[in-house]
Amino acid sequence: MSPSTPSAPPRHAKISFEGVHKRYAGARANAGATVALERLDLEIAPQEIVSIVGPTGCGKSTALNLLAGFETPSGGRVCIDGLPVNGPGSNRGVVFQQAALFPWLTVMDNVTLGMDCRGADAAEYRPRAQALLEEVGLKGFEQHHPYQLSGGMQQRVQIARALIGEPDILLMDEPFGALDYQTRLLMQKLLLRLWQHFRPTIVFITHDVGEAVFISDRVLAMSRRPGRVIADVTVDAPKPRDYEFMSSTAFNELERRLLLAVQNEVERDDPAMAH
Ligand SMILES: Nc1ncnc2c1ncn2[C@@H]1O[C@H](COP(=O)(O)OP(=O)(O)OP(=O)(O)O)[C@@H](O)[C@H]1O
Ligand SMILES: [Mg+2]
Repeated sequence: MSPSTPSAPPRHAKISFEGVHKRYAGARANAGATVALERLDLEIAPQEIVSIVGPTGCGKSTALNLLAGFETPSGGRVCIDGLPVNGPGSNRGVVFQQAALFPWLTVMDNVTLGMDCRGADAAEYRPRAQALLEEVGLKGFEQHHPYQLSGGMQQRVQIARALIGEPDILLMDEPFGALDYQTRLLMQKLLLRLWQHFRPTIVFITHDVGEAVFISDRVLAMSRRPGRVIADVTVDAPKPRDYEFMSSTAFNELERRLLLAVQNEVERDDPAMAH
């Protein structure tokens, strides 16, 4: 770069973790504390889809819960648009692994409950909920109850509910982890279609490295607890993506790199691997 070339403007981070520590006190007075996260630094750009993979117990859900505002950091800062998170907010939609739906409410009422609670105008959001349910493939199921739906359909309801307030951040904790392989593929494509429409920043936690590569702009691999980022892999493929991408050499190479990174962490210090 020549000295006269202006440097690129700093990229505005939608989400940042700055030296984040999270320590959970022991359940009993004499039980030791758990350090879930230590010096976690990361930045996510607006509208980026970032997946986080890593060994079980490394602090992935903890990181997501800090972002959701369900937990507070013991040190460092978790920021959205440069401001520290200080509780849950309507700018973030959250989707969990188990469909956390209210069994006594219909699909439509599950989707719109949050809007009702916020005192929003039903005449405005009901048609939006209807359109969203159509978009996630649940037209005709509006008056069904969760027990009448398959696991995949329940996750579709959760996603519609997370999107109804048009949040600019979607936080997803193993949202497709309990689904069968074929349904998971359908849901991954659905998520990319919804992203195309709403363009939220997405933080997606998964144990499935292939899933992470398929849907993401960037995949972060975390170390064993206390979790830090040990690999930051960019997936340089245009979206939307299809199954051809999944069988490409580029995809396989990224998946292999990430699998190795995670596997090394899983096996590190495991006495069974010492032989
Ligand atoms: N509320 C809590 N109180 C005490 N300890 C907790 C709490 N939540 C998480 N932990 C501990 O913090 C560590 C990280 O947990 P976390 O749920 O963030 O892991 P994870 O990476 O999401 O794991 P998994 O892949 O199994 O979902 C674990 O040792 C866990 O026992
Ligand atoms: Mg978890």
